[in-house]
Amino acid sequence: MAASLLVASNRGPLSFHLDAEGRPRGRRGGGGLVSALSSAGRDTSSALWVCTALTEADRQAVQGRPRGRIDAGDEGGGLAVRMLAEADGIDAHTFSLAYNAVANSTLWFVHHRLYATPTAPVFDAGFTREWAAYSTFNRAFAAALAEEAAPGAKVLVQDYHLTLTPRMLRDRRPDLRIAHFSHTPWAPADYFSMLPAEIAREVLLGVLGADEAGFLAPRWAEAFLDCCERVLGARVERHGTVHDDVTSDETDGGTVTWEGRRTRVTVHALGIDADELCERGSRPDVISYENAMRARIGDRLVIARVDRTELSKNIVRGLLAYRELLRRHPEWVGRVVHVAGAYPSRHDLPEYREYTAHVQRLAAEIDEEFAFPGWSPLLLTVDDDYPRSLATYRLADVLLVNPVRDGMNLVAKEGPLLSQRHAVLVLSTEAGAAHELGEHALLVNPFDVSGTATALHRALTMEPAERERRSAGLVAAAGALPPHEWLEAQLRGLDTPA
Ligand code: G6P
Repeated sequence: MAASLLVASNRGPLSFHLDAEGRPRGRRGGGGLVSALSSAGRDTSSALWVCTALTEADRQAVQGRPRGRIDAGDEGGGLAVRMLAEADGIDAHTFSLAYNAVANSTLWFVHHRLYATPTAPVFDAGFTREWAAYSTFNRAFAAALAEEAAPGAKVLVQDYHLTLTPRMLRDRRPDLRIAHFSHTPWAPADYFSMLPAEIAREVLLGVLGADEAGFLAPRWAEAFLDCCERVLGARVERHGTVHDDVTSDETDGGTVTWEGRRTRVTVHALGIDADELCERGSRPDVISYENAMRARIGDRLVIARVDRTELSKNIVRGLLAYRELLRRHPEWVGRVVHVAGAYPSRHDLPEYREYTAHVQRLAAEIDEEFAFPGWSPLLLTVDDDYPRSLATYRLADVLLVNPVRDGMNLVAKEGPLLSQRHAVLVLSTEAGAAHELGEHALLVNPFDVSGTATALHRALTMEPAERERRSAGLVAAAGALPPHEWLEAQLRGLDTPA
């Protein structure tokens, strides 16, 4: 049956692993979009999620299935899924170039402003090949979506892995209503222009193939509009949200007109499902972690952080700020513990492996400088454990979220909700979440290590009444626009032309 609602993303809602007999077994993934789509009341019988077969087990699982489709009732966990693999033109090599070299090493670096060396980036013949693989990858998605979509269907294309897909899909199926959503920041025009001109144009035109281009915060929408105007030379109109850089409920950022077609640029600030998170955060596995960690920490105060070990998360400067806090304020030595969960991410890339090693080295140095029998300044864990992350939130007196740049950062929303201690949020001005949470948080410039240390001290010494007032503000803001409403808002937007 042709689908009337399609979602496209690199990482899908389902992944496979091989069981003891070597047979692939499906497991549903987490994430806001998965729960939004499968939330109560939504009819998913004519929905289809198109994604990549990411692992060997995924590839084995789809082999021999007609069009790589996994039914909702099967391992699909309630959602029909189509996994693209070699038969669709995405072999392992093409995937690696598209995902590692272009999406994660180039576009991710540009949008997060991570290039800070005199030797990177380099756009040469090698990059031309990588870019060709990225185009192939995007075209495979466009072809599959075109094949699966019912007339007039709505298609939600996700993120920087798939910037070219909207235009490629429109060329094949002009009848479809297409949205593209960026879960990352968007680079300022000057920075975006470091991409070779033809590639910068292709990316912008790719996204403009959609009827709607959505972003998590007004400043990313503004940056996209700027790029369309200054890099592409498109006609741009700016509306409500992007003029108001403090708070606004408006979602309409503006429109871009290119060759007579209009694309609406919108802001949908994804929030969290507070009820679901509170329920998950009070289950026995979380509480037993909390008790075990509390037994080690005693009645000391906790500065917490939870991140993927991701270059944009700025864990190293966070540790430097903690070290400066202990040096400048020796009264905290022995009275505070930094609980840092830094779980692995994208270890196919050497930069990520080096970064993880750097984090561990620095943590060991801090330990060596300050620890004494019976007290260690840091509790650093580098493996992924969701219940332990939730327990860390519960223990937090202070939550440090200091990315150099981040589309939204849901830790800043989840942590305050679960903290049992009215955690004070020390938050980077460069996180998309600062737009909604800034007035309740202590904002820091993520590069300013001394300023971050000062904010940590202020957070640790804050009067209870102020903590409670700020915490109430954070909790209220975090629950606005939960995933199912975020999804509905985008689908509604597709009902009306730009
Ligand atoms: C983060 C970003 C998303 C991105 C995802 C990819 O969650 O916020 O924008 O799509 O990482 O992660 P992956 O593990 O699939 O590379």
